[in-house]
Amino acid sequence: MPAETSLAQGVTVSRVITKEELCVLEKVPAPCGIIIFGASGDLTHRKLLPALFSLYLEKLLPNQFYILGVARSAMTDPAFQERALECLGQAGTSGARHEFVRRCGYLSGDYQDSRTYEVLGQRLMGLDRVYETVGRRLFYLSTPPSLYGAISKKLGAAGLSKAGSPDAWVRLVVEKPFGSNLQSATQLNKALHEVFQENQIYRIDHYLGKETVQNILMFRFANAIYQPIWNNKYIDHVQITAAESAGVEHRAGYYENAGALRDMFQNHLFQLLSLVAMEPPSSFSADAVRDEKAKVLASLCFSKDCDWEDRAVRGQYEAGAIAGEVVPGYRQEPAVNPESSTETYAALKVEIDNWRWHGVPFYLRSGKRLAERTTDIRIIFKHVPTSIFQPLMADQISPNILRFRIQPNEGIALCFEAKHPGPKLCMSTVTMHFDYEEAFGIRPPEAYARLFQDVMIGDQTLFARQDWLAHSWRFLDPVLERWAERKETGLAFYPAGSWGPAEADDLIQKDGRQWLTT
Ligand code: BG6
Repeated sequence: MPAETSLAQGVTVSRVITKEELCVLEKVPAPCGIIIFGASGDLTHRKLLPALFSLYLEKLLPNQFYILGVARSAMTDPAFQERALECLGQAGTSGARHEFVRRCGYLSGDYQDSRTYEVLGQRLMGLDRVYETVGRRLFYLSTPPSLYGAISKKLGAAGLSKAGSPDAWVRLVVEKPFGSNLQSATQLNKALHEVFQENQIYRIDHYLGKETVQNILMFRFANAIYQPIWNNKYIDHVQITAAESAGVEHRAGYYENAGALRDMFQNHLFQLLSLVAMEPPSSFSADAVRDEKAKVLASLCFSKDCDWEDRAVRGQYEAGAIAGEVVPGYRQEPAVNPESSTETYAALKVEIDNWRWHGVPFYLRSGKRLAERTTDIRIIFKHVPTSIFQPLMADQISPNILRFRIQPNEGIALCFEAKHPGPKLCMSTVTMHFDYEEAFGIRPPEAYARLFQDVMIGDQTLFARQDWLAHSWRFLDPVLERWAERKETGLAFYPAGSWGPAEADDLIQKDGRQWLTT
């Protein structure tokens, strides 16, 4: 047994994994090409190229690879390489950065024009020869979603969707949003399936690549002590919060038609919910895990005795102050309709109608321009059944709370009651912390790096499957339709820098509970 290593006060990890070992534990993908559609866009430079470079630095990219950006804007290879260099900042050494961008190329073309795909096909054949990538190709769609169907169709028509030899593979990564309701998501699935098989399609949700999100499964299923209490006998309710202090920024064009429910709930929050609530899968394989996640969403419902107002609240931020800085309201943001009824905040009270969770409410909320940026999941356990510490009654003793801190300050905290020094009958709530950075000595890696690597090795565990997605839209469609019909009626306003509208507080307070923010 390797010796235990103490890295931080109170936290011991049984072994520190060296970089060399990491390459053994992680499968290094076979040589391949990465083709990014929408390569002149923000995501490519802010997230995708830096993530690929971090894999390169960790020696987790294949020894032979190339990156080809495709977009409408005219740009030469050197200009694209220059932009790529800029977005890598000071990561790694200058030599490594130059070596990496040397493998980046660019092709400009109209996504709807078949000629683009002819040229692309020729270019890929040439790159295959230079980099010995034998037709292994990862197509990443980071364009406006309305183009996903068309691009996939054109790839198919140009003969680029099928592997040309037994050693080759072709995989398609699709950025969110995947549809805007059940009907459009079904149509998109249909369009992609006309060209690609389900095992070639990787529907990305970057939350699934976050270490702390992946850790939910380890926490639940690599420890024996939680499973017996992970149910409606011991858990009172669950709160999932994804709060952002940032506003809509420069994304009004997309966000005006999306809103918080489509932007954050349909994907990220429902993924967190699925991981917390799923049954133990039969193995840690893509389909076993995704089978269980789909079952959670299939059982998702609103409590039958609730009015609409007690199920779902939507809000929009007004001008306010964040960290002392005055910020405008949503309707005053650039490119936002001054009468917009798009929600920048939503809160839902949902239930999972199965044996494990029957009667346990899950309160979900997410919004922009809230008091701080924090994403967490809190499991609030039941009060002790009776108190031996009279005159303190059972409901005066704080319940245990388990908190998954997804970001920032990634970690897990458990609150429990302890004897307070001094008087015999005095207790306080204390917290036991696991801090990711302190325990492992590193910042959690970028989510996109994990996801890229999984696509290259062909592991779909951390990607949304079509049935999960359909359940998710099927559940949200009635809420979205109702909100669209009622426009501004029922839209609650909240000042930027607050924790959301008062109506969201009512939603949970009516049940005798509170949102937990500290
Ligand atoms: C994206 C949403 O998917 O997630 C954004 O489109 C949101 O609106 C972002 O800001 C939040 O991601 P993270 O990783 O910062 O929590």
